Amino acid sequence: MEFKEKINLEKLPKHIAIIMDGNGRWAKQQGEQRIFGHENGVKSVREAVEACAELGVKYLTLYAFSTENWNRPQEEVIALMQLLVHTISAETKTLNENKIRLQAIGDLKSLPDDCYHELQEAIENTKNNTRTTLVLALSYSSRWEITNAVKQIAEQIENKKLAASEITEEIINANLCTADMPEPELMIRTSGEHRISNFLLWQLAYSELYFTDKLWPDFRKNDLYEAIVDYQNRERRFGKTSEQLIS
Ligand code: FPP
Repeated sequence: MEFKEKINLEKLPKHIAIIMDGNGRWAKQQGEQRIFGHENGVKSVREAVEACAELGVKYLTLYAFSTENWNRPQEEVIALMQLLVHTISAETKTLNENKIRLQAIGDLKSLPDDCYHELQEAIENTKNNTRTTLVLALSYSSRWEITNAVKQIAEQIENKKLAASEITEEIINANLCTADMPEPELMIRTSGEHRISNFLLWQLAYSELYFTDKLWPDFRKNDLYEAIVDYQNRERRFGKTSEQLIS
């Protein structure tokens, strides 16, 4: 079924976050090495970014590499980093043509030098684009991010710039990597796993969660449209009752 025409453009999520999962299993099904799955996942990345830009979704965050992914076999980590560097540099021109701004969240300093520099260059080269922001979560984990935020706030208190009694949700937000971004209204995870896996734990507090059995390399624009339609059919109550939402 085609889902695009079922989307209400007036009620689009401003921010969609995706846990791209299932590359390894997809490769295994084809009798190939895991990296073959990651390589084929790049096409799905392109489709998701294009679909968001075409629809007018303002932010798309992709969980590309978690802090825990450093523990994978060394050859997979190296191959993934090379793929990231190659993809980022090959896609910068297309990002600019489509007015897409690139940003990244995570412990970026822990990335290999070439990856870090390619990333910073692409971020700099696309910084004036305003159509959609593509956020790559790289060497990211939510517990790392929250620990970092706590350290920054503690330093502000130590330097007498802030009192403990003045800490608010806004101050915590302002010390997260996502400080300037709206919270994701919709989080999608592929591959049939029903977990958040240390991804945007604070930011997903009120997000609608959508799980699909599709493996990431099989994920196409229509799958994203389907997730958006599903999201638009849900009632978001933010702790209130249905009756309160109507009145
Ligand atoms: C999860 O599948 C996927 C990843 C850890 C990496 C995702 C990376 C890409 C799609 C490459 C390109 C990305 C960008 C943004 C340019 P998995 O390996 O955990 O799969 P499995 O659960 O089946 O083993």
